[in-house]
Amino acid sequence: MRAVDLIRKKRDSGELSREEIEFLVSGYTRGDIPDYQMAAWLMAVWIRGMNRSELVALTEVMLYSGQVLTHADIPGKKVDKHSTGGVGDKTSLILAPIVAAGGLTVPMISGRGLGHTGGTLDKLEAIPGFNVNLSLEEFRHVLRECGMALIGQTAEIAPADKKIYALRDVTSTVENIGLICASIMSKKLAEGIDALVLDVKTGSGAFMKKEEESVRLAEVMVETGKRMGKKVVALITGMDEPLGRMAGHSNEVFESVEVLKGRGPADLRDLSLDLSAWMFFLGERTESVEEGRRLAETMVATGQALEKFREGIRLQGGDERVVDAPERLPQARFRAEVVSSVSGYITATNCEQFGTALAMLGGGREKKEDKIDHAVGLEFHKRIGDSVEKGEKLVTIYYNNDVKLAEAKTLIAGSYVSGQSAPSEKRVLIRSIIGA
Ligand code: URA
Repeated sequence: MRAVDLIRKKRDSGELSREEIEFLVSGYTRGDIPDYQMAAWLMAVWIRGMNRSELVALTEVMLYSGQVLTHADIPGKKVDKHSTGGVGDKTSLILAPIVAAGGLTVPMISGRGLGHTGGTLDKLEAIPGFNVNLSLEEFRHVLRECGMALIGQTAEIAPADKKIYALRDVTSTVENIGLICASIMSKKLAEGIDALVLDVKTGSGAFMKKEEESVRLAEVMVETGKRMGKKVVALITGMDEPLGRMAGHSNEVFESVEVLKGRGPADLRDLSLDLSAWMFFLGERTESVEEGRRLAETMVATGQALEKFREGIRLQGGDERVVDAPERLPQARFRAEVVSSVSGYITATNCEQFGTALAMLGGGREKKEDKIDHAVGLEFHKRIGDSVEKGEKLVTIYYNNDVKLAEAKTLIAGSYVSGQSAPSEKRVLIRSIIGA
Protein backbone atom coordinates (compact mmCIF):
# COMPACT_ATOMS: atom_id res chain seq x y z
CA MET A 1 0.00 0.00 0.00
CA ARG A 2 1.08 3.58 -0.60
CA ALA A 3 -0.24 6.67 1.19
CA VAL A 4 -0.43 8.61 -2.05
CA ASP A 5 -2.89 6.07 -3.52
CA LEU A 6 -5.11 6.23 -0.42
CA ILE A 7 -5.13 10.03 -0.54
CA ARG A 8 -6.20 9.85 -4.19
CA LYS A 9 -8.86 7.26 -3.40
CA LYS A 10 -10.46 9.49 -0.79
CA ARG A 11 -10.01 12.59 -2.94
CA ASP A 12 -12.02 10.79 -5.64
CA SER A 13 -14.77 9.87 -3.12
CA GLY A 14 -13.73 6.23 -2.73
CA GLU A 15 -14.40 4.13 0.38
CA LEU A 16 -11.34 3.03 2.34
CA SER A 17 -11.16 -0.43 3.89
CA ARG A 18 -10.19 -1.00 7.52
CA GLU A 19 -6.76 -2.24 6.38
CA GLU A 20 -6.20 0.93 4.38
CA ILE A 21 -7.23 3.16 7.31
CA GLU A 22 -5.01 1.13 9.61
CA PHE A 23 -2.09 1.52 7.20
CA LEU A 24 -2.48 5.32 7.22
CA VAL A 25 -3.10 5.80 10.94
CA SER A 26 -0.45 3.36 12.18
CA GLY A 27 2.07 4.60 9.62
CA TYR A 28 1.50 8.19 10.67
CA THR A 29 1.61 7.38 14.39
CA ARG A 30 4.93 5.52 13.95
CA GLY A 31 6.37 8.40 11.94
CA ASP A 32 6.59 6.49 8.63
CA ILE A 33 3.98 8.68 6.93
CA PRO A 34 4.84 12.39 6.97
CA ASP A 35 2.64 15.28 8.10
CA TYR A 36 2.01 16.49 4.54
CA GLN A 37 0.49 13.19 3.41
CA MET A 38 -1.66 12.84 6.53
CA ALA A 39 -2.77 16.47 6.14
CA ALA A 40 -3.76 15.82 2.52
CA TRP A 41 -5.72 12.72 3.53
CA LEU A 42 -7.47 14.57 6.37
CA MET A 43 -8.48 17.34 3.98
CA ALA A 44 -9.80 14.75 1.52
CA VAL A 45 -11.85 13.24 4.37
CA TRP A 46 -13.05 16.70 5.40
CA ILE A 47 -14.29 17.37 1.87
CA ARG A 48 -15.56 13.92 0.88
CA GLY A 49 -16.66 12.60 4.29
CA MET A 50 -16.59 9.02 5.56
CA ASN A 51 -19.35 6.44 5.61
CA ARG A 52 -20.34 4.60 8.78
CA SER A 53 -17.95 1.67 8.34
CA GLU A 54 -14.99 3.96 7.66
CA LEU A 55 -15.89 5.95 10.77
CA VAL A 56 -16.08 2.83 12.92
CA ALA A 57 -12.76 1.61 11.50
CA LEU A 58 -11.04 4.98 12.09
CA THR A 59 -12.30 5.18 15.68
CA GLU A 60 -11.20 1.62 16.49
CA VAL A 61 -7.83 1.92 14.79
CA MET A 62 -7.16 5.16 16.70
CA LEU A 63 -8.37 3.61 19.95
CA TYR A 64 -6.09 0.56 19.57
CA SER A 65 -3.11 2.67 18.51
CA GLY A 66 -2.29 2.59 22.23
CA GLN A 67 -3.35 0.81 25.40
CA VAL A 68 -6.95 0.54 26.50
CA LEU A 69 -6.85 1.03 30.25
CA THR A 70 -8.72 -0.80 32.97
CA HIS A 71 -8.67 0.26 36.60
CA ALA A 72 -9.68 -2.97 38.33
CA ASP A 73 -7.62 -1.99 41.41
CA ILE A 74 -9.71 1.16 41.95
CA PRO A 75 -13.13 0.40 43.42
CA GLY A 76 -16.30 1.99 42.08
CA LYS A 77 -17.37 3.41 38.76
CA LYS A 78 -15.17 5.47 36.47
CA VAL A 79 -16.87 8.30 34.60
CA ASP A 80 -15.85 11.15 32.38
CA LYS A 81 -17.16 14.07 30.35
CA HIS A 82 -15.95 15.45 27.05
CA SER A 83 -16.98 18.58 25.21
CA THR A 84 -16.78 19.09 21.47
CA GLY A 85 -15.29 22.50 22.22
CA GLY A 86 -16.24 26.13 22.45
CA VAL A 87 -15.15 29.53 23.73
CA GLY A 88 -14.80 29.92 27.49
CA ASP A 89 -15.80 26.27 27.93
CA LYS A 90 -14.01 25.36 31.15
CA THR A 91 -16.46 22.95 32.74
CA SER A 92 -13.90 20.08 32.94
CA LEU A 93 -11.90 22.01 35.52
CA ILE A 94 -15.02 22.38 37.64
CA LEU A 95 -16.81 19.07 37.28
CA ALA A 96 -13.81 16.76 37.65
CA PRO A 97 -13.27 17.83 41.29
CA ILE A 98 -17.02 17.92 41.97
CA VAL A 99 -17.51 14.35 40.76
CA ALA A 100 -14.32 13.03 42.39
CA ALA A 101 -15.32 14.68 45.68
CA GLY A 102 -18.71 12.98 45.32
CA GLY A 103 -17.12 9.54 45.27
CA LEU A 104 -16.62 8.56 41.62
CA THR A 105 -13.32 8.22 39.77
CA VAL A 106 -12.60 10.57 36.86
CA PRO A 107 -9.74 9.43 34.59
CA MET A 108 -9.77 12.33 32.15
CA ILE A 109 -7.77 12.40 28.92
CA SER A 110 -8.22 15.82 27.37
CA GLY A 111 -6.99 17.80 24.41
CA ARG A 112 -5.23 21.07 23.72
CA GLY A 113 -6.77 24.06 21.99
CA LEU A 114 -8.27 23.09 18.65
CA GLY A 115 -9.15 25.65 15.97
CA HIS A 116 -10.79 28.63 17.66
CA THR A 117 -11.63 26.63 20.82
CA GLY A 118 -9.62 26.36 24.01
CA GLY A 119 -8.26 23.07 25.36
CA THR A 120 -8.33 21.73 28.92
CA LEU A 121 -4.63 20.80 28.85
CA ASP A 122 -3.53 24.30 27.88
CA LYS A 123 -5.78 25.76 30.59
CA LEU A 124 -4.31 23.50 33.26
CA GLU A 125 -0.81 24.45 32.17
CA ALA A 126 -1.58 28.04 33.13
CA ILE A 127 -1.17 26.74 36.71
CA PRO A 128 2.57 26.96 37.41
CA GLY A 129 4.13 23.48 37.58
CA PHE A 130 0.98 21.56 36.58
CA ASN A 131 2.06 18.45 34.67
CA VAL A 132 -0.41 17.08 32.12
CA ASN A 133 2.22 14.66 30.74
CA LEU A 134 2.09 12.02 33.47
CA SER A 135 3.38 8.55 32.74
CA LEU A 136 0.83 5.79 32.89
CA GLU A 137 2.09 4.80 36.30
CA GLU A 138 1.84 8.37 37.62
CA PHE A 139 -1.63 8.74 36.11
CA ARG A 140 -2.79 5.64 37.98
CA HIS A 141 -1.14 6.83 41.18
CA VAL A 142 -2.91 10.23 41.08
CA LEU A 143 -6.22 8.54 40.26
CA ARG A 144 -5.92 6.18 43.20
CA GLU A 145 -4.90 9.01 45.54
CA CYS A 146 -7.55 11.58 44.76
CA GLY A 147 -10.10 10.08 42.38
CA MET A 148 -9.28 12.33 39.45
CA ALA A 149 -6.38 12.84 37.07
CA LEU A 150 -6.28 15.06 33.99
CA ILE A 151 -3.73 14.30 31.31
CA GLY A 152 -3.20 14.48 27.57
CA GLN A 153 -2.92 11.71 25.03
CA THR A 154 0.44 9.97 25.49
CA ALA A 155 2.75 7.63 23.59
CA GLU A 156 0.87 4.86 25.46
CA ILE A 157 -2.74 6.11 25.44
CA ALA A 158 -4.39 7.31 22.22
CA PRO A 159 -1.08 8.19 20.51
CA ALA A 160 -2.78 8.40 17.10
CA ASP A 161 -5.14 11.10 18.36
CA LYS A 162 -2.23 12.97 19.94
CA LYS A 163 -0.57 13.38 16.54
CA ILE A 164 -3.64 13.72 14.32
CA TYR A 165 -5.29 16.23 16.70
CA ALA A 166 -2.26 18.54 16.58
CA LEU A 167 -2.16 18.30 12.80
CA ARG A 168 -5.89 19.01 12.37
CA ASP A 169 -5.54 22.08 14.57
CA VAL A 170 -3.26 23.79 12.04
CA THR A 171 -4.65 22.44 8.77
CA SER A 172 -8.32 23.50 9.03
CA THR A 173 -9.52 19.91 9.21
CA VAL A 174 -11.37 20.06 12.51
CA GLU A 175 -15.06 20.55 11.74
CA ASN A 176 -16.00 17.13 10.46
CA ILE A 177 -18.34 14.70 12.19
CA GLY A 178 -16.26 11.57 11.49
CA LEU A 179 -12.95 13.13 12.50
CA ILE A 180 -14.41 14.63 15.68
CA CYS A 181 -16.12 11.37 16.65
CA ALA A 182 -12.96 9.29 16.08
CA SER A 183 -10.83 11.79 17.97
CA ILE A 184 -13.09 12.08 21.00
CA MET A 185 -14.21 8.49 21.26
CA SER A 186 -10.73 6.99 20.73
CA LYS A 187 -9.43 8.97 23.74
CA LYS A 188 -12.45 8.38 25.91
CA LEU A 189 -12.76 4.67 25.24
CA ALA A 190 -9.08 4.21 26.07
CA GLU A 191 -9.49 5.71 29.55
CA GLY A 192 -11.08 2.70 31.18
CA ILE A 193 -14.42 4.36 31.95
CA ASP A 194 -17.84 2.85 32.58
CA ALA A 195 -19.81 5.92 31.55
CA LEU A 196 -19.37 9.09 29.54
CA VAL A 197 -21.26 12.37 29.36
CA LEU A 198 -20.77 14.27 26.11
CA ASP A 199 -21.32 18.00 25.87
CA VAL A 200 -21.99 18.61 22.20
CA LYS A 201 -21.90 22.31 21.48
CA THR A 202 -24.08 24.02 18.93
CA GLY A 203 -24.07 27.56 17.57
CA SER A 204 -21.71 30.22 16.28
CA GLY A 205 -18.88 29.31 18.67
CA ALA A 206 -19.10 25.55 18.08
CA PHE A 207 -17.61 23.42 15.33
CA MET A 208 -21.15 22.40 14.44
CA LYS A 209 -23.04 25.65 13.87
CA LYS A 210 -26.42 24.10 13.13
CA GLU A 211 -28.37 22.19 15.72
CA GLU A 212 -29.18 19.31 13.37
CA GLU A 213 -25.43 18.81 12.70
CA SER A 214 -24.73 18.77 16.45
CA VAL A 215 -27.47 16.21 16.97
CA ARG A 216 -26.02 14.03 14.21
CA LEU A 217 -22.55 14.23 15.80
CA ALA A 218 -24.05 13.38 19.19
CA GLU A 219 -25.93 10.38 17.79
CA VAL A 220 -22.83 8.99 16.12
CA MET A 221 -20.75 9.35 19.30
CA VAL A 222 -23.43 7.91 21.57
CA GLU A 223 -23.85 4.93 19.24
CA THR A 224 -20.07 4.39 19.12
CA GLY A 225 -19.81 4.44 22.92
CA LYS A 226 -22.78 2.14 23.42
CA ARG A 227 -21.42 -0.33 20.89
CA MET A 228 -18.31 -0.53 23.07
CA GLY A 229 -20.46 -1.32 26.13
CA LYS A 230 -20.38 2.11 27.80
CA LYS A 231 -23.22 4.15 29.20
CA VAL A 232 -23.24 7.37 27.17
CA VAL A 233 -25.48 10.42 26.97
CA ALA A 234 -24.95 13.62 25.04
CA LEU A 235 -26.27 17.01 26.06
CA ILE A 236 -26.68 19.41 23.15
CA THR A 237 -25.78 22.78 24.62
CA GLY A 238 -25.76 26.31 23.23
CA MET A 239 -22.51 27.98 22.19
CA ASP A 240 -23.97 31.14 20.63
CA GLU A 241 -21.86 33.19 22.99
CA PRO A 242 -18.95 32.43 25.34
CA LEU A 243 -19.64 30.28 28.39
CA GLY A 244 -19.14 32.40 31.49
CA ARG A 245 -17.46 35.81 31.40
CA MET A 246 -13.86 34.75 30.83
CA ALA A 247 -11.87 33.21 27.99
CA GLY A 248 -8.13 32.57 27.90
CA HIS A 249 -6.08 30.25 30.05
CA SER A 250 -5.32 32.10 33.30
CA ASN A 251 -8.73 33.75 33.09
CA GLU A 252 -10.49 30.41 32.82
CA VAL A 253 -8.63 28.83 35.72
CA PHE A 254 -9.61 31.87 37.79
CA GLU A 255 -13.27 31.62 36.78
CA SER A 256 -13.37 27.87 37.43
CA VAL A 257 -12.10 28.46 40.97
CA GLU A 258 -14.80 31.09 41.41
CA VAL A 259 -17.46 28.49 40.56
CA LEU A 260 -15.87 25.96 42.91
CA LYS A 261 -16.10 28.63 45.61
CA GLY A 262 -19.85 28.92 44.99
CA ARG A 263 -19.56 32.11 42.94
CA GLY A 264 -19.03 32.74 39.24
CA PRO A 265 -21.46 33.28 36.37
CA ALA A 266 -24.79 31.48 36.44
CA ASP A 267 -24.56 29.83 33.00
CA LEU A 268 -21.18 28.26 33.75
CA ARG A 269 -22.21 27.18 37.24
CA ASP A 270 -25.47 25.65 36.02
CA LEU A 271 -23.95 23.74 33.14
CA SER A 272 -21.10 22.42 35.31
CA LEU A 273 -23.59 21.22 37.93
CA ASP A 274 -25.88 19.64 35.32
CA LEU A 275 -23.03 17.78 33.64
CA SER A 276 -21.83 16.60 37.06
CA ALA A 277 -25.37 15.47 37.83
CA TRP A 278 -25.42 13.28 34.72
CA MET A 279 -22.01 11.86 35.64
CA PHE A 280 -23.26 10.94 39.12
CA PHE A 281 -26.34 9.32 37.62
CA LEU A 282 -24.56 7.35 34.88
CA GLY A 283 -21.90 6.34 37.39
CA GLU A 284 -24.69 4.93 39.58
CA ARG A 285 -23.73 7.18 42.46
CA THR A 286 -27.27 8.58 42.54
CA GLU A 287 -30.62 7.17 41.52
CA SER A 288 -31.65 10.14 39.43
CA VAL A 289 -30.15 13.12 37.65
CA GLU A 290 -31.98 15.40 40.12
CA GLU A 291 -30.32 13.68 43.04
CA GLY A 292 -27.04 13.99 41.16
CA ARG A 293 -27.58 17.73 40.85
CA ARG A 294 -28.19 18.02 44.61
CA LEU A 295 -25.03 16.05 45.32
CA ALA A 296 -23.04 18.30 42.97
CA GLU A 297 -24.42 21.41 44.71
CA THR A 298 -23.46 19.94 48.10
CA MET A 299 -19.89 19.24 46.93
CA VAL A 300 -19.54 22.92 46.05
CA ALA A 301 -21.40 24.34 49.07
CA THR A 302 -19.36 22.32 51.56
CA GLY A 303 -16.04 23.23 49.94
CA GLN A 304 -15.25 19.57 49.23
CA ALA A 305 -14.95 20.13 45.47
CA LEU A 306 -12.55 23.04 46.00
CA GLU A 307 -10.43 20.92 48.34
CA LYS A 308 -10.38 18.17 45.71
CA PHE A 309 -9.20 20.66 43.10
CA ARG A 310 -6.34 21.75 45.39
CA GLU A 311 -5.38 18.12 45.96
CA GLY A 312 -5.46 17.35 42.23
CA ILE A 313 -3.24 20.36 41.45
CA ARG A 314 -0.79 19.34 44.16
CA LEU A 315 -0.60 15.72 43.00
CA GLN A 316 0.08 16.81 39.43
CA GLY A 317 2.94 19.06 40.52
CA GLY A 318 1.08 22.37 40.30
CA ASP A 319 1.06 25.37 42.60
CA GLU A 320 -2.18 24.97 44.54
CA ARG A 321 -1.79 28.49 45.96
CA VAL A 322 -3.40 29.81 42.74
CA VAL A 323 -6.71 28.85 44.32
CA ASP A 324 -6.42 31.63 46.89
CA ALA A 325 -3.97 33.85 45.07
CA PRO A 326 -5.00 34.06 41.38
CA GLU A 327 -2.23 36.62 40.79
CA ARG A 328 0.12 33.60 40.82
CA LEU A 329 -1.35 32.65 37.43
CA PRO A 330 0.44 34.19 34.44
CA GLN A 331 -0.70 37.83 34.19
CA ALA A 332 -0.82 39.99 31.07
CA ARG A 333 1.05 43.31 31.14
CA PHE A 334 -1.55 45.30 29.20
CA ARG A 335 -5.28 45.79 28.90
CA ALA A 336 -7.41 47.24 26.13
CA GLU A 337 -11.15 47.80 25.89
CA VAL A 338 -13.53 47.15 23.02
CA VAL A 339 -16.54 49.47 23.32
CA SER A 340 -19.90 49.51 21.62
CA SER A 341 -20.30 51.78 18.61
CA VAL A 342 -24.10 51.86 18.98
CA SER A 343 -26.82 51.93 21.64
CA GLY A 344 -29.37 49.11 21.71
CA TYR A 345 -29.47 45.43 22.67
CA ILE A 346 -27.06 42.59 21.96
CA THR A 347 -29.08 40.17 19.83
CA ALA A 348 -26.38 37.67 18.76
CA THR A 349 -22.63 37.12 18.60
CA ASN A 350 -20.36 35.50 16.08
CA CYS A 351 -18.73 33.63 18.93
CA GLU A 352 -16.06 31.87 16.86
CA GLN A 353 -14.45 35.26 16.22
CA PHE A 354 -13.75 35.70 19.94
CA GLY A 355 -11.77 32.46 19.90
CA THR A 356 -9.94 33.47 16.73
CA ALA A 357 -9.04 36.86 18.24
CA LEU A 358 -7.75 35.17 21.37
CA ALA A 359 -5.59 32.80 19.31
CA MET A 360 -4.30 35.72 17.26
CA LEU A 361 -3.08 37.46 20.42
CA GLY A 362 -1.05 34.38 21.39
CA GLY A 363 -3.70 32.33 23.19
CA GLY A 364 -3.79 29.67 20.43
CA ARG A 365 -1.56 28.03 17.84
CA GLU A 366 -1.10 28.82 14.17
CA LYS A 367 1.66 26.21 13.80
CA LYS A 368 2.14 22.97 15.75
CA GLU A 369 5.28 24.24 17.48
CA ASP A 370 3.72 27.55 18.67
CA LYS A 371 3.85 28.23 22.41
CA ILE A 372 0.68 29.43 24.09
CA ASP A 373 0.66 32.71 26.02
CA HIS A 374 -1.42 31.69 29.03
CA ALA A 375 -1.87 35.28 30.20
CA VAL A 376 -3.78 36.38 27.10
CA GLY A 377 -7.48 36.60 27.80
CA LEU A 378 -10.84 38.17 27.15
CA GLU A 379 -13.40 39.32 29.70
CA PHE A 380 -16.92 39.71 28.39
CA HIS A 381 -19.08 42.44 29.93
CA LYS A 382 -22.26 41.92 27.93
CA ARG A 383 -24.37 38.90 27.12
CA ILE A 384 -27.03 38.31 24.47
CA GLY A 385 -30.17 40.16 25.56
CA ASP A 386 -28.29 42.87 27.51
CA SER A 387 -28.82 46.53 26.71
CA VAL A 388 -25.77 48.55 25.76
CA GLU A 389 -24.99 52.25 25.42
CA LYS A 390 -22.74 53.67 22.74
CA GLY A 391 -19.21 53.82 24.20
CA GLU A 392 -19.94 51.21 26.87
CA LYS A 393 -17.40 48.42 27.44
CA LEU A 394 -18.09 45.14 25.63
CA VAL A 395 -14.84 43.25 26.18
CA THR A 396 -11.60 43.77 28.10
CA ILE A 397 -8.58 42.30 26.33
CA TYR A 398 -5.59 41.13 28.41
CA TYR A 399 -2.47 40.93 26.24
CA ASN A 400 1.32 41.04 26.15
CA ASN A 401 2.04 41.62 22.49
CA ASP A 402 0.24 44.26 20.43
CA VAL A 403 1.30 43.13 16.95
CA LYS A 404 -2.18 41.84 16.15
CA LEU A 405 -4.12 43.88 18.69
CA ALA A 406 -5.86 46.14 16.15
CA GLU A 407 -6.94 43.13 14.08
CA ALA A 408 -8.17 41.30 17.18
CA LYS A 409 -10.14 44.36 18.32
CA THR A 410 -11.83 44.61 14.93
CA LEU A 411 -12.77 40.92 15.07
CA ILE A 412 -14.18 41.25 18.58
CA ALA A 413 -16.15 44.42 17.83
CA GLY A 414 -17.49 42.78 14.66
CA SER A 415 -18.65 39.74 16.63
CA TYR A 416 -21.52 41.61 18.24
CA VAL A 417 -24.86 41.92 16.49
CA SER A 418 -27.18 44.52 17.99
CA GLY A 419 -30.75 45.67 17.47
CA GLN A 420 -33.26 48.10 18.89
CA SER A 421 -35.05 45.51 21.01
CA ALA A 422 -33.99 42.52 23.08
CA PRO A 423 -34.38 39.08 21.41
CA SER A 424 -37.86 37.75 22.14
CA GLU A 425 -36.77 34.14 22.66
CA LYS A 426 -35.41 33.15 26.06
CA ARG A 427 -32.01 31.51 25.70
CA VAL A 428 -31.94 27.87 26.84
CA LEU A 429 -28.49 26.43 27.44
CA ILE A 430 -29.36 22.71 27.32
CA ARG A 431 -31.23 22.21 24.04
CA SER A 432 -31.78 18.45 24.14
CA ILE A 433 -30.41 15.19 25.47
CA ILE A 434 -29.46 12.29 23.21
CA GLY A 435 -29.24 8.69 24.40
CA ALA A 436 -30.85 9.18 27.82
N1 URA B 1 -12.46 17.50 20.93
C1 URA B 1 -11.64 16.47 20.57
O1 URA B 1 -11.07 15.80 21.43
N2 URA B 1 -11.49 16.21 19.28
C2 URA B 1 -12.10 16.90 18.31
O2 URA B 1 -11.92 16.57 17.14
C3 URA B 1 -12.95 17.96 18.66
C4 URA B 1 -13.12 18.25 20.01
